[in-house]
Parts: sequence; C-alpha cells; structure tokens
Amino acid sequence: MKTKAAILREVNKDFEIVELDLDPPKTGEVLIKYVAAGLCHSDEHLRHGDIVPRFPIVGGHEGAGIIEEVGEGVTRLKPGDHVICSFLPVCGHCRFCASGKSNLCDLGATILEGCMPDGSFRFHLDGEDLGAMCMIGTFSERATISETSCIKVADDVPLDKAVLIGCGVPTGFGSAVHAAATEPGDTIAIYGIGGIGINAVQGAALAGAANVVAIDPLANKREMAEKMGATHSVASAEEAHELVQQLTHGVGADKAIITVGIVDTAVTTNAIHCIRKGGTVVITGLADPNKNTIEFPGALLTLFEKRIQGSLFGSGDPFKDIPRLVNMYQAGQLKLDELITSTYSLDQINQGYQDLLDGKNIRGVIIYD
Ligand SMILES: NC(=O)c1ccc[n+]([C@@H]2O[C@H](COP(=O)([O-])OP(=O)(O)OC[C@H]3O[C@@H](n4cnc5c(N)ncnc54)[C@H](O)[C@@H]3O)[C@@H](O)[C@H]2O)c1
Ligand SMILES: [Zn+2]
Ligand SMILES: [Zn+2]
Repeated sequence: MKTKAAILREVNKDFEIVELDLDPPKTGEVLIKYVAAGLCHSDEHLRHGDIVPRFPIVGGHEGAGIIEEVGEGVTRLKPGDHVICSFLPVCGHCRFCASGKSNLCDLGATILEGCMPDGSFRFHLDGEDLGAMCMIGTFSERATISETSCIKVADDVPLDKAVLIGCGVPTGFGSAVHAAATEPGDTIAIYGIGGIGINAVQGAALAGAANVVAIDPLANKREMAEKMGATHSVASAEEAHELVQQLTHGVGADKAIITVGIVDTAVTTNAIHCIRKGGTVVITGLADPNKNTIEFPGALLTLFEKRIQGSLFGSGDPFKDIPRLVNMYQAGQLKLDELITSTYSLDQINQGYQDLLDGKNIRGVIIYD
C-alpha cells in the first residue's frame, strides 16, 4: 500500500512530503488511518537536532485514527475501532508495566529508531527502511503500528480534538497531577505554556492548587493560561519568583513544573530557587541529552530536602490515563477545543512548525482528509 507522509532525512532540514510504501500488519499489529496529528515540540527537537533519531524517520507521535485492518493475534482491536495512540507502547508485562509504571515500558527503548518491537520497519522508500517516530509516525495518512500503542475509545469521541490526549494532555496534566502530586491549596509555578504547559495548568487547577502561576514571555500564552485555570501569569522567572514569594509569605512554591521548549540551566536553576523547602521541581521539557541542563549546588537538595523529578508521559499509565482524560473531556472538566489554535493539512507541516517556533500556537493540529 502507498501512503503520503512527512519525513525527516537529516538534522536541520525541513519535513519532506513523500509517498511511501507501507507494509500490511503482521502479528500483533494494526493498520491505522489517522484522522489527526498534533504538532508537538518533540518532533521539532528531531528536526533541529536537539535530539537525534535514526534517519530517515516519519515524524509525529500525537495521533488518533480509525483501525482499517488487524494482523494475526490481535484480539483487542478490530477494523472500524476508533483509537488514540499513546506515544509510548505498553507491553503490559515487563517489570515496569507490572509495577504500575507503564510509561517506562521496556518497549519504549526503540521509539527514536521507530522500528517495531521485533526490530523491523513498516515504512519504505525505494528499498530503504524508514522509522516511525515513537513507533507510530502520525505524520502519515496511514501507518502500520503495534496494538500496544493503541487505546480504543468510543465512536462518539471527536478524534480531531481527542488527538491531544495522545501526548500534550497526559504529559502536561500528569506532570502536575502525578509527577508534582499537586494537592489542594498548593502553589504551583509552571514554566513554558505550549501544548504541554497549558495542560499542566489545567491539571494543577483541577487538582485544587490555590495558586497556579504560569510563566511565559509571550502574551498570547499567558492569556490562554489564565483562561485555562492559571490564577496568575507573568513574563519572566524573576517576576515569578517575586510573585510566589508574596503569595506564599516568603515560603516558596510547593512545586515547579518545567515545560519550556528547550530546557537549559537558567530555567532549572530558577525553578529550584522558586520552590520551598521540601518542594519538587518536575522536569518535563526536553533538551539535548548530551548537555548538562542542571547545575546548582547539591547542598540545596541536602539542606532543604528539595527534590528534582523527571517526568515522561506525565508519569502516568497510558491505558489508565487516556480513557480517564477522555471521560474528563466529555464531562466538561478538561478543555481541548480551545487548545487547538490552528489546523493544517499535511502539506502545510513546515508552516505549522514555523508557527510553533514563532509562538503563535498553543497546539497546531494536522487534519487528514
Ligand atoms: N517528558 C515528556 O513526556 C514530553 C512529552 C512531550 C513533549 N515534551 C517536551 O515538552 C516541551 C514542551 O513542548 P511543547 O510542545 O509544549 O512546546 P511549545 O514550543 O509549544 O511550548 C513551549 C513554550 O515555552 C515557552 N518558553 C520558552 N522558553 C521559556 C522560558 N525560559 N521561560 C518560560 N517560558 C519559556 C515558549 O514561549 C512556549 O510558549 C518540549 O521540550 C517537548 O519536547 C516532553
Ligand atoms: Zn509530544
Ligand atoms: Zn512493558
């Protein structure tokens, strides 16, 4: 079968729209037709080389679609099923899945190679294998993916909105609810209001934080944060520090959550100084894995019992959190429609990423025909 897809061949080159050969599903795999794909900053990291995958690769790891075909041994899904893809596969029985940390499933080891769990590839171009970002490659009209990446949802869930529950929502929401363990009355500082940070704002507000302080240099981001549950918004870490000191009578924030596009030492240092004794800094944003992005005296951790907590997929379990977030959307508790600030065709993907870099969007989404 043929499929149109946006691929990256090397660092610092734009997405290229090509027609690929796509294999049919093998054992445990399904053929999905994507309805929508979100433009998350993580794919931008691949494009600009902050994180280097195996090239060439089909981009996209936030997606939702409809199952068209299932391979041998697939019991959980059938053609016609509507699914949200998890950007991390869940095997269900490795040590991490078995202990309620399925976001750390061993199958996640090859998400940047983009191959199937058996090491082979399903996308090809002129005889060359292409990986699929996070094993799902949602910047393709169709993809053959593992059933371990698919969470079935009811047919009446609007996939063009629920697509955000593949990455941005669980990552941001979980950063506040699971990783930061926000409690009623907390003061939470959130650095960076994109597709991830806005959902940390929603998560912190829903968990009962008394003060949700959104920090972003861009006015449109701060405005949206205040609509989504932030009690305060400021343009810089310095203003945030001063405000948090006032709000907490000099105690400091209970938790800080870092969701900026590219994490650096300035933001991690600001966050560690912003939290109170015994507080937590959650690091959700990514950066070049070869750069030291944390540099401050370790004595701050020892003497004040401050904690640094990394967070992947919001430290949640995709098969538990994705259906729960869908329920919250349907119940009107969680907002999604407002977060989609622009939609694009697949052909407009480079414009979509330019808009992300220019700070125009909360989340841009590709809608397929
Ligand atoms: N840990 C995970 O599981 C996971 C999952 C998805 C994405 N991510 C990462 O999360 C980060 C955010 O992704 P996104 O899609 O929301 O990005 P985005 O580009 O849409 O948003 C980032 C926001 O940060 C703001 N910003 C930049 N520098 C800042 C600073 N110093 N202080 C305050 N605000 C600042 C920008 O203005 C922008 O609004 C990226 O690094 C992405 O790769 C992590
Ligand atoms: Zn993402
Ligand atoms: Zn597992």
